[in-house]
Amino acid sequence: MTQSPGPAAPGTPAAPGSPGAPDSPSAPAPRPKRVRVHHLREAKERGERLTMLTAYDYPTARILDDAGIDMLLIGDSIGNTMHGHDTTIPVTVDEIIPAVRAVSSASRRALVVADLPFGSYEASAEQAFTTAVRMLKEGGAHAVKFEGGRRVAPQVRMLTDAGIPVVGHLGFTPQSENLLGGKRVQGRGDEAAERLSADAVALQDAGAVAVVLEMVPAPLAARVTEVLRIPTIGIGAGAACDGQVLVWLDMAGMGDWSPRFAKQFAQLGRALGDAARAYAAEVRSGAFPDEAHSFLE
Ligand code: KIV
Repeated sequence: MTQSPGPAAPGTPAAPGSPGAPDSPSAPAPRPKRVRVHHLREAKERGERLTMLTAYDYPTARILDDAGIDMLLIGDSIGNTMHGHDTTIPVTVDEIIPAVRAVSSASRRALVVADLPFGSYEASAEQAFTTAVRMLKEGGAHAVKFEGGRRVAPQVRMLTDAGIPVVGHLGFTPQSENLLGGKRVQGRGDEAAERLSADAVALQDAGAVAVVLEMVPAPLAARVTEVLRIPTIGIGAGAACDGQVLVWLDMAGMGDWSPRFAKQFAQLGRALGDAARAYAAEVRSGAFPDEAHSFLE
């Protein structure tokens, strides 16, 4: 959405009593309208930008959902960001499902998208179906995402036919990092650009509801965005994509490193460190707890 984010689905006027609408103090705030997959295509048609952030736990998802983020992605980046792995490859379905459940429980408005981890969907459409069903049944996700183009089109088709929305993921696909030779921009050169475009069209034809484009030259991402009817969600793919996604910790400045394409919109890591230091100093000096934070009777 390009307008100030409110609780309504993209393109829906904000309901009275909700953020972005005139206050109505007596009426309780109505439940925000859930973002659904048809809103994604409608937003593209209207030229409204879509917002997506990763989330891995209840309190963070609650804040991001309240902020009006359209889609919350439980990315397999949980492996790097939350579990301290170097890559996403060790992440398992059993590990990611509790995070999906926590984010689903927190989300009142956002479309909740669960990543299928490495090894949980590539072998066959049936394998992808089994994993995706777990994400919906046990995790409460609304959609799933997995990496790959034409090679996973049968998986996209089967899930779509079964009523499970799929978000594709092209460009730099972290689960193939070993084959791609590290974190590198993908789609450079005519042949690679052609391959990526053909993969994007194949995902759309198989029924994907959106495609993430990661670390793709901006002109190529713009071309793919123009060709597709479904939205492209960029991450390191320039400004022409229909939406943007970032890992929330990168966006909020939680770590001491973030990729070049990830703008830091806050310095939460520094703020948390300051808070912890202030707490420790007050405990050590005896200033905390004071009377205001004690039960005196
Ligand atoms: O796992 C993830 O967080 C992702 C996004 C970076 C797109 O796939």
